[in-house]
Amino acid sequence: MGLDVAGLRVLISGGAGAIGRVVVSTLARHGATVVVNDVIPDAAARELLPEGTGYTPGDCADDAAAEALLDAAEALAGGPLDAVCCHAGIADSHPVTSFPIDSYDRIMSTNVRAAYLLARAAGRRWRESGRRGHLVFTTSWVQDVPWPEIAPYSASKAALRSLMRSFARELAPYGIRANAVAPGIVGVGMARHQWDTDPGYRARAERAIPLGELQTPESVADAFLFLLSPMAAYMTGTVLLVDGGASLYPMDGGAVADPDAAP
Ligand SMILES: NC(=O)c1ccc[n+]([C@@H]2O[C@H](COP(=O)([O-])OP(=O)(O)OC[C@H]3O[C@@H](n4cnc5c(N)ncnc54)[C@H](O)[C@@H]3O)[C@@H](O)[C@H]2O)c1
Repeated sequence: MGLDVAGLRVLISGGAGAIGRVVVSTLARHGATVVVNDVIPDAAARELLPEGTGYTPGDCADDAAAEALLDAAEALAGGPLDAVCCHAGIADSHPVTSFPIDSYDRIMSTNVRAAYLLARAAGRRWRESGRRGHLVFTTSWVQDVPWPEIAPYSASKAALRSLMRSFARELAPYGIRANAVAPGIVGVGMARHQWDTDPGYRARAERAIPLGELQTPESVADAFLFLLSPMAAYMTGTVLLVDGGASLYPMDGGAVADPDAAP
């Protein structure tokens, strides 16, 4: 028993993204056979993903996508899947009183509905075949925190956590598990750029993260590795929160001044 995922066949949606490709590299380095779904063209994915990674392009939010996606992933992985990671996600930022409703719908469709369709199809397949599969959902520390201007995103991640627990509860009798990884503020893309170039953002983010540093994508990948390994075999219905303590603070931590002050 250990952090051993050798031989596991894993599908991850959104696996060509900033966090996803580090998850893919980590799992592949530890011997898993990984298949990625993402919306980017095949050639671009080949450049981003480690050699040997299967790639099946397509919009996982399409109603008809889930079954075809599982078929393609099984063909590329050379057999039935052991784990399906519903990781694709999008975000947008507007005040709660003026959030565009088409953006709200896109966020819910990708972050909740697409994940549900994929997990539902995988769960059904495992249940019918008697296979003990594992669903892993990517939520976020903001599933519990009303960080300003991302209300639909926070709501989508809270919904995803709830769906995860329903999958865990209903499929446990078949030996099928469901868990979630909840990252904090990961230092990739825009967050990294702002951290490096905007002192105001950096000061605010430092207040928001008790450990004081942006999260690395490697720390998220390590959480996936642990959850997919035999060390987590008795875990189901759990959120593995890996956020540097961000969710301990209300919003950006401005209210937490003196740790010795009376509550
Ligand atoms: N970056 C963070 O700080 C952070 C924190 C907590 C949670 N997360 C979550 O981690 C996941 C990855 O985030 P990221 O920061 O790597 O973002 P990212 O934009 O780099 O990656 C997301 C990937 O999903 C793909 N995608 C989007 N819609 C899709 C669809 N309909 N079908 C298939 N693929 C689709 C995108 O092409 C992209 O490659 C998301 O679920 C996000 O909500 C991110």
